[in-house]
Amino acid sequence: MRTPIIAGNWKLNKTVSEAVSLTIDLIKLVDKISDVEIVIAPVFTALSDVHDAINGSNIQLAAQDVYWEDSGAFTGEVSAPMLKDVGCDYVIIGHSERRQYFAETNESVNQKVKAALSHDLKPIICVGELLEEREAGKTESVIEDHVKGAIVDLSVSEMESCVIAYEPVWAIGTGKTATPDQAQEVHNFIRNILEDCYSDKLASQIRIQYGGSVKPENAEELMSQPDVDGALVGGASLDAESFAEIVKQSR
Ligand code: PGA
Repeated sequence: MRTPIIAGNWKLNKTVSEAVSLTIDLIKLVDKISDVEIVIAPVFTALSDVHDAINGSNIQLAAQDVYWEDSGAFTGEVSAPMLKDVGCDYVIIGHSERRQYFAETNESVNQKVKAALSHDLKPIICVGELLEEREAGKTESVIEDHVKGAIVDLSVSEMESCVIAYEPVWAIGTGKTATPDQAQEVHNFIRNILEDCYSDKLASQIRIQYGGSVKPENAEELMSQPDVDGALVGGASLDAESFAEIVKQSR
């Protein structure tokens, strides 16, 4: 059995005090839940304070990106040991917004995944096709390219620490969600890639989240699909009640 994992990607939102207050509201709403992994990803500047706020709770901390070098002359970057230092458990890598606006590539995603793993941070690796790619029938080839590109040279135990998030780009922040069948089809395809690259056993252990306009109204149906093991939630994670409701629906 795979434990569902619901992660809130707060993107470029919330000052430190706003982030802490959202965290405190959320803790109250989900404090009885022990059968779902709950993760929140604030901006870098709020990580430390949010880490203090979640101390002793069932919520884990993620960063939204990481650089692959540990230190040095890389102005503006934040490294894996630094994220570990402020208490991160997870890091989102390869989000489509980073691929689209910040020139993230499969190669940089792979470097970041390796850096995260070498500092005991668990990567949430994002993959997903653009609308024109889906319409051109290229969904599977894009997903295969993203997945295989991200996991180059990962050992079995490294792969076991990763979570994959399937986020069709056309569904992110648009209010358009993949249908449960569309999501299941791609999730199953991803699991088959992992089976080919590793083994049946490993493929059956890896959690694959769905992301893209997940909200309380559609979460249950999406997550009832056999290969959908949780959600990566953007907009709806900025509201404690909506996010808590999605967490509850994943059980
Ligand atoms: P959304 O974002 O839920 O606002 O569509 C999801 C994501 O980008 O992770």
